[in-house]
Amino acid sequence: MNQTTSSSSPTGTTRAIRGRVLHFQRDPQFHDDAYQYWEDGVLLVADGRIAAAGPYAELAPSIAPGTEVIDHRGKLIVPGFIDTHVHYPQTDMIASPSPGLLHWLDTYTFPEERRFAEPEYAAAVASFFADELLRNGTTSALVWSTVHATSADALFAESHRRNLRLATGKVLMDRHCPDFLRDTAESGARESADLLSRWHGKGRLSYAITPRFAPTSTEAQLAACGELARAYPDALIQTHVAENRDEVKWVAELFPQARSYLDVYDRYGLLRPGAFYGHAIHLDDDDRRRLADTGAAVAHCPTSNLFLGSGLYDFHQSDAHRLNLTLATDVGGGTSFSMLRTMNAAHKVARMGGYHLTALRMFYLATRAPADALGWGDRVGSFAPGNEADFIVLDPDATPLLGRRSARSETLEEQLFAFAMLGDDRVIDSVYVMGERAGV
Ligand code: GUN
Ligand code: ZN
Repeated sequence: MNQTTSSSSPTGTTRAIRGRVLHFQRDPQFHDDAYQYWEDGVLLVADGRIAAAGPYAELAPSIAPGTEVIDHRGKLIVPGFIDTHVHYPQTDMIASPSPGLLHWLDTYTFPEERRFAEPEYAAAVASFFADELLRNGTTSALVWSTVHATSADALFAESHRRNLRLATGKVLMDRHCPDFLRDTAESGARESADLLSRWHGKGRLSYAITPRFAPTSTEAQLAACGELARAYPDALIQTHVAENRDEVKWVAELFPQARSYLDVYDRYGLLRPGAFYGHAIHLDDDDRRRLADTGAAVAHCPTSNLFLGSGLYDFHQSDAHRLNLTLATDVGGGTSFSMLRTMNAAHKVARMGGYHLTALRMFYLATRAPADALGWGDRVGSFAPGNEADFIVLDPDATPLLGRRSARSETLEEQLFAFAMLGDDRVIDSVYVMGERAGV
């Protein structure tokens, strides 16, 4: 039960949220002082932002009389999860059986995406999608729309209404796809620039330049993406790379002059900080060096990679090159909106490669790492003072089994690991967006 005592300050709501508080400052894989954790901690929130975070005993004297205190003692408070690769138009075709990526795209994905030409349809799915993100504790995301500008409009409008920090973009796709989903190099660039001018930087929203993947863009379209990226240096970029062996072969045939699949994007100036490469499984070391040198990020999508049989992400090589790694669901190729379930799959993928992915690292990869990679590290992803107060509360007793395992947990790592292996949306007790409880 949440225990609430009273109200608000003249400048806006001030509240104190008490519980076990955890957040990350850097990657625990490479640093000893990577996180802060207070068993009896508190977040002080004023006007939707973090005013302070620390031990309750230390901060209690600074809590003004009359401040609303929300008591989540025993539960874990972490920054809201951030999903760096998720397709909102694929919400209703999640769990579609298929032998692999290219068949899955033709059979289920493209026919479903066609429906998003209809603004009312797009708006209805956008609303459900936002609910589902929040129900799973995901408070920010880098999201795919469809080729229709109206689909991006629908998600931007829904996110703006809910005051979510979220990015999306219209898909660019001018070949090797059905006519009903095809734009042109010219119309794609024009519509992207128009959406960007209307939504990028509006409230908490950002625009992402979104070429689907190399096979569905002509050289002219990739060149236009590069021009857009140069014209808007602070826009995000997202695409897919080296997900599936058949796809990699196809790209080699389509772009014989490129050294590799990743090199296609590199040639058009699409590798830079704020550029997210989904999957990135079948890479070589030159590719990894380019990703590292340019500051581009990887969105690792383990439930999707397993579901579509795409391959196993190489964590050893990823770390050896210090790749800018983040975790993502890739719904609807991915099979869950839950970042906890995504951690579960990531851990097992890593295990198959003889790599131990710790729970601390996985929580970092779902909070601070994506915030930094998105350029939002001074806004979300941690409890630094001044950050926007997007956070979630995880219940270690959410299910009977999790409760029993949590009772045996002797370390923070063990408790986080139990959440990651046994948890899903049932674990998400409460979700706060800009300090306000989201009604999910
Ligand atoms: N490659 C190109 N489009 C897609 C997509 O929608 N999902 C996945 N997983 N891979 C893709
Ligand atoms: Zn994808």
